[in-house]
Amino acid sequence: MTARENAKLRHDALAAEVRAHDYRYYVLDDPELSDREYDALYAELRALEDEHPELRSSQSPTQRVGGELRSDLRTVPHVAPMMSLDNTYDYDELAEFERRVLDNLPANAAPEFCVEPKLDGASVEILYRDGELVGGSTRGDGSSGEDIAPNLKTMRSLPLTIPYRGPLTLRAEVVIFRRDLAKINLTRAEAGEAPFANPRNAASGSLRMIDPRSVAQRPLRVMVWQVVEGAELAATHAGALARLAELGLPTHRLERVCKTPDEVRACIEAIDAGRRAYPYETDGAVVKVNAFSAQGILGATAKFPRWAIAYKFSAERANTRVLSIVVQVGRTGALTPVANLEPVQLGGTVVQRASLHNAEIIEHLDVRVGDLVSIEKAGEIIPQVIAVDPSARTGAEMPWQMPAECPSCGSAVVALEEEVAIRCPNPACPAKVKGAIFHFSRRFAMDIDHLGEALIEQLIGSGLVADVSDLYDLKVEQLEALERMANKSAVNVVQSIERSRTQPFERLLTGLGIEHVGQVAARQLAEAAESLENLLSWGAEHVLEHVAQIAGFGPKMVESVRRYLESADNRALLEKLARLQVSRPQPKARAAAEGPLSGFSFCVTGVLSRKREDVHAAIRDAGGEVLDKVKKGTSFLVIGEKVGKAKTDSAKKFGAQVIEEAALERMIAGELSPVPETPSTVAVPKKTKATKATKATKPEAAS
Ligand code: IVH
Repeated sequence: MTARENAKLRHDALAAEVRAHDYRYYVLDDPELSDREYDALYAELRALEDEHPELRSSQSPTQRVGGELRSDLRTVPHVAPMMSLDNTYDYDELAEFERRVLDNLPANAAPEFCVEPKLDGASVEILYRDGELVGGSTRGDGSSGEDIAPNLKTMRSLPLTIPYRGPLTLRAEVVIFRRDLAKINLTRAEAGEAPFANPRNAASGSLRMIDPRSVAQRPLRVMVWQVVEGAELAATHAGALARLAELGLPTHRLERVCKTPDEVRACIEAIDAGRRAYPYETDGAVVKVNAFSAQGILGATAKFPRWAIAYKFSAERANTRVLSIVVQVGRTGALTPVANLEPVQLGGTVVQRASLHNAEIIEHLDVRVGDLVSIEKAGEIIPQVIAVDPSARTGAEMPWQMPAECPSCGSAVVALEEEVAIRCPNPACPAKVKGAIFHFSRRFAMDIDHLGEALIEQLIGSGLVADVSDLYDLKVEQLEALERMANKSAVNVVQSIERSRTQPFERLLTGLGIEHVGQVAARQLAEAAESLENLLSWGAEHVLEHVAQIAGFGPKMVESVRRYLESADNRALLEKLARLQVSRPQPKARAAAEGPLSGFSFCVTGVLSRKREDVHAAIRDAGGEVLDKVKKGTSFLVIGEKVGKAKTDSAKKFGAQVIEEAALERMIAGELSPVPETPSTVAVPKKTKATKATKATKPEAAS
């Protein structure tokens, strides 16, 4: 076999393996590899394609983010109109639907129904032609939508090829899992961006982004719920969904065929009872006539098909009264109105506050202080006021308006053109300063202990601190002079602040809270600049040059960094931080996977001989991946003293090898191989063939 043939074989095997893991992770939600193992496989595939570019076909998993850059989304017509769905909240209307179906089918027909969840995401049309994913669009106005083909290709739940000939047109919901939304919102909060109110908004916003590279960063998943073209797959809707799943396409797999109205209701109730455990939001059940032939006979009205109806579940709602409306000022200066409510039970918790988001929403809902309102919990997000009951008004309710002045500092607020938010423009506004210092001190940033919100307020109020750099001038005596501050606490605070000087540059950048620059971007920026001094030495004109080079930095991020560095106030702050030697230069970016622990993942638990962070750093330095939980594919659980049973149980469940700290130290020192010397010392955790192959291409560091 020639070297080329060999490379082709290896390429096809690797590509198939990456696809198989994408399928397990994104379609079955049951990953087999750790992220690091997956990344290693993927990196090997890329490297092989770099060496043999002729192997890089459009179907390779590496081509999910194409080079195509667009300035906007084109509009494309749908293959068939994307209609909406008749819906109801009650069983009587459902019975009417069933009656209409019977009346319109030939006498004696006993139609089967298929009942399935109604997913609450963004609906899309997806086109496969001769097994290749070639196009896709948003719902748009129903007859045409925005071309989002490059964005769909980034979604790893959607195969780029399937074993199917001819045209296949599908309809699907693009969703974001609830657990993923929490992560996205955290990142957004760190970057000073408004959180998404619910998974649906997050999904539809993400789906329509112009740059597929940004879309690729969002954990979007596809769930197919209808075949529009390609009905020859099966004679029934349920049969077609099952065939699609066999072809490797993502479906919800919750379709159930029902023969009687009672069965239909039982299925609806089962979905309602189970939906809180589904990873995505489900706002109802869809009842569809199962046979395509019967669907054809029933046809459609101008708006919706006569063969389907959505039975919607009422969202968890409660009624309560608005006691007052207050305004919070965040670190970016955005003013957020918040309703204080008469406490009410909703979805298992007592709710006393609800966000009103912005002035536009208050005006739209016409919320007044004293009003009786309905509040709703969208997913696991903060409750929202969704409606006012004007019939319950007594006349004593007080209309409310957004203040023209910042409630914290009294500056006139400004409305920026491109956003609905109203902001306080004063850089010295105490509420903004407090938010900025709190953000700076957080765990993921400079990690300063003992610096709570109350103390920050005191420090600002007493004039000791006006920006984050002032923290580093604080003396124990000054703190002791504050109310409720004992000597020991004052010493702790000063020590925690001192300790934070050793944080790497990326933490400082994260802590500064530059708009659109969260932890990941901060790390990239820190790696590009290496140190605060270097960053300062890039003149405004070079900033663009350097920053625009960073992979994944979109125009918004580049512009935000440029604007930040251009401001004289910000430069003065950075210069002072540099003088005070806050933060260490960024350690060189390390190429993934080198060192004795490369390819292995570790979860550390219990009390160890040194600080947990230090153990983590040592693992990473030796090429290992650190996980905060044992999951499928985790290689080792490192245990110290006082280990909880839950952790060791999960190690057992996921097949992670339990080792003591001493064994870890020996592995790091290269004295003990993560691959066993004798079966009785350390057993090899289950690894995939491909990861082993990755390792085999490098010198064996540990054996
Ligand atoms: S079937 C011709 N099935 O709900 C319309 N729709 O409110 C047939 N949806 O536009 C629709 N899950 O975006 C169908 N399992 C499901 C669905 C579903 C979500 C969406 C879809 C539709 C909207 C109507």
